[in-house]
Parts: sequence; structure tokens; C-alpha cells
Amino acid sequence: MSQRWLPQRMISPLIDLSYMLMSLLFAAGFPRWYERLNAWHYRYQAEHYDGHVIAFGGTRYAQALESGLQALSVQPKRILDVNTGTGFVAQKLLALFPEAQIAATDLSHAMLAQAQRRFPQIEFARADTAKLPFADESFDLVTLHNGPPHLAEMNRVLRPNGQMLIAYTSGARVPRFVLRRWLRSAHQFGRVEWRCSGDGLWVLLTKSS
Ligand SMILES: C[S@@+](CC[C@H](N)C(=O)[O-])C[C@H]1O[C@@H](n2cnc3c(N)ncnc32)[C@H](O)[C@@H]1O
Repeated sequence: MSQRWLPQRMISPLIDLSYMLMSLLFAAGFPRWYERLNAWHYRYQAEHYDGHVIAFGGTRYAQALESGLQALSVQPKRILDVNTGTGFVAQKLLALFPEAQIAATDLSHAMLAQAQRRFPQIEFARADTAKLPFADESFDLVTLHNGPPHLAEMNRVLRPNGQMLIAYTSGARVPRFVLRRWLRSAHQFGRVEWRCSGDGLWVLLTKSS
């Protein structure tokens, strides 16, 4: 989405709202048209994503994410970053947990190509977050930044007492009734903490043992 003709402050909360609504509406899996729309959108955006979206957001882009990362209590050995895009979160995780094994997945070939070129030391793979190609309980930490969460599937690959961190750049401005409904859906998987940070929001789920 172009930042030239619509102010980011208007677009970004709407995008985060759509992510939360999508996760409530498509709890059983994303429809095929969504996959095609996503592939089309990011094929054109991938090359400019870091320069336009991330750089344009400045420190605001990751304010909630950074705050959520500080709230983690796991010392993860295996980490999965879903909807990794160009690898923005995966490289932060690598810096924070240099000993951990990090896997990072995304639906868009174009975004993954950018990520793999920038961070060859991370293992990137194409996967739909609704159908992750990993065994049950195989990660200590699962992260998602700025994408529609597929909570049941992310929870499936998380080990008991493991943590799931979900953060949004503008989530703090999502209407409260949507947020409350979304948080209720997360509660079924474990203990949930959440906080607004600047314009953003993070949600930390610790899976029940
Ligand atoms: C807004 S970008 C965020 C990228 C990255 N997490 C970041 O914060 O910079 C959203 C990403 O989610 C990916 N995505 C959307 N739906 C997905 C799905 N069902 N499974 C995997 N990736 C998906 C898109 O291809 C895109 O790369």
C-alpha cells in the first residue's frame, strides 16, 4: 500500500484491525482467494517493503514488538517466526538468542526471496500459517508481527509452557470490542498478557502445561 497518498497513521490501524478480524472469521483456515491476493500484493511490494513500509514507520514500526520481546520469560532453543516477510523479526530474534535454532516462514515467495538474500544464516521456508509443516510441540517460542494470527495452528507447534508473542504496529487503535473478542479466543490456549505500547499492541501467550 502506498504511503504517498494516504497517511500511514490512517492505514496502519485499519490493517491491524483487518488482521484481527481475519483471525476471528477464518479460524478454520484461510480461503484460497486470500492466498492469491496475498501473493499478488507482496509480489509487487516485496522489493520495496523494507525501504517503504519498515523505514517509513521508523521506530514506531517495531515499538510494540520490542516491548513484547522484553516481556518474554522463555529461554528458547527452537524459535519459529511466522509471516516473517523480509525477515525483520527473525533477525531480531537471532540477535537476542544467538544460540537458538530459528525457522521463519511466510506465504509469499517474493518476501521470502528478500529475506533469504538479506539473512542467509536463517532458515526460511514457504508455509501457510494456517497449515504449518512442523510437528506438534516443536518450538519454545513462536512469534508473529503484523499479520493475521492462526492461533490454533501456532499453538499446536508450541511446546507446553512455551510462549507465543504477537505484536502489531498500530493495534492499540483497534476498537476495544474487537480486541476483547480476539483476546478471549487466545485465552483458550493458555495464560494471556497484553499491553499497548505507543500506537502498537503486544499479546504474550504462555501455553498451558
Ligand atoms: C505486513 S507483512 C509483515 C512481515 C514481517 N512480520 C514484519 O513485521 O516486517 C505480512 C506478511 O504476512 C504474510 N502472510 C500473510 N498471510 C499469511 C499466511 N496465511 N501464512 C503465512 N504468511 C502470511 C505476507 O506474505 C507478508 O509477508
